[in-house]
Amino acid sequence: MSTYAFQLGRQRDLSQEEIAAVFIQKHVHISHSRLVGEYLLVSVDTPIDGAELMHQLGGTRLIGEKLDPKGNAEETVFSYLSTLPSDQKLHFSVSGGTHASKLAIAVKKKLKKIGRSVRYVETKNTATILHNNLVAKGSHLTIIDNVVYVTRAIQPIEEMSERDYGRPSIDDKSGMLPPKLARIMINLAMPKKEDTLLDPFCGSGTLLGEAMSLGMEHIIGSDISERAIDDTTKNLNWLKEKLACSNLTLKIFKKDVRQTTENIEKNSIDIIATEPYMGVPRSGREQKVFLQKQTEELKQLYIDAFRVFKKIMKPDGRIIFVIPRFRYKEEWITIDCQKHIEELGFELLQYEESDMPLVYARDEQFVAREIWRWKLAE
Ligand SMILES: C[S@@+](CC[C@H](N)C(=O)[O-])C[C@H]1O[C@@H](n2cnc3c(N)ncnc32)[C@H](O)[C@@H]1O
Repeated sequence: MSTYAFQLGRQRDLSQEEIAAVFIQKHVHISHSRLVGEYLLVSVDTPIDGAELMHQLGGTRLIGEKLDPKGNAEETVFSYLSTLPSDQKLHFSVSGGTHASKLAIAVKKKLKKIGRSVRYVETKNTATILHNNLVAKGSHLTIIDNVVYVTRAIQPIEEMSERDYGRPSIDDKSGMLPPKLARIMINLAMPKKEDTLLDPFCGSGTLLGEAMSLGMEHIIGSDISERAIDDTTKNLNWLKEKLACSNLTLKIFKKDVRQTTENIEKNSIDIIATEPYMGVPRSGREQKVFLQKQTEELKQLYIDAFRVFKKIMKPDGRIIFVIPRFRYKEEWITIDCQKHIEELGFELLQYEESDMPLVYARDEQFVAREIWRWKLAE
């Protein structure tokens, strides 16, 4: 049995659910899991490749692997570090609260006593760990509940922001879907590489770009706006070259979601993952009646979209769909279309740990995102 610690992103429930979905997709059985603060501790029967898994996940900051205990945490850290190659100065770091740095200093003294040349690096954030190359050296440790974990992988922040800010077309007017969230959404749908994925409100192509970088080979994007189609085309062609994708089929076209059946064959789509149109950008000064009216219009658009999805989806397909909720003073105005979507022949594909929907929200924003997972009813 191997145990791993996943340091979760800001939205812990989303990150946790993403991990559960990826493990199901990889047929890795979780025999036990437990949340300790920001860490999800997961025990599995077969060892996992932390670096590969990190490359796939959007909501995990760090993956550590449990070390066999050699006494208490301090003894375990000392015993482990003394086994690392001694031909050059050992840079190491220990995270896990104020107690961790005291422990690290005590271990450093002991290592010096046995003749090792060591430097203790104080880690303020994951950038320090990357900068000092501590993952490759196997010398960043985290203590959680007195158990020691060695860091196997760290979120590739620079790679992610290059995909986000380095792309040719950025449309900040229609509201940016954070790439990490786009990646989480795709993973929640548990796709296979050879599946066909559609985003029918593709905007500037953020979600489609994440699908490409996850290695998906059949990608379709559509949008009602000429500008969005132009942006998506530029962004995805740029990424295709950057990732050197060879087996990719890419189809991008301009269409109202209500007419996508004209361009997409019946029963041909495995995965629909989308953040749809969410109304006019909020200033925060809108009247309640305005928000309520907009809510009704969006509700109708979403129901119409699901009516089309019913025709183009494969029987075992899955949908990840964002529904916005709008903050008005102290309350949230929500869009209730679950019953209507069920009447069209869909059912919720429940999450492993959390209730439906998961909610992605930031304190200062007037719009939060509900993340729903659906499949066709059996
Ligand atoms: C929130 S953005 C989507 C962001 C996008 N998912 C991304 O990854 O960048 C919403 C998009 O919906 C498009 N849209 C609005 N009404 C539509 C409709 N009826 N059919 C298709 N697209 C529509 C807008 O042009 C806009 O690009």
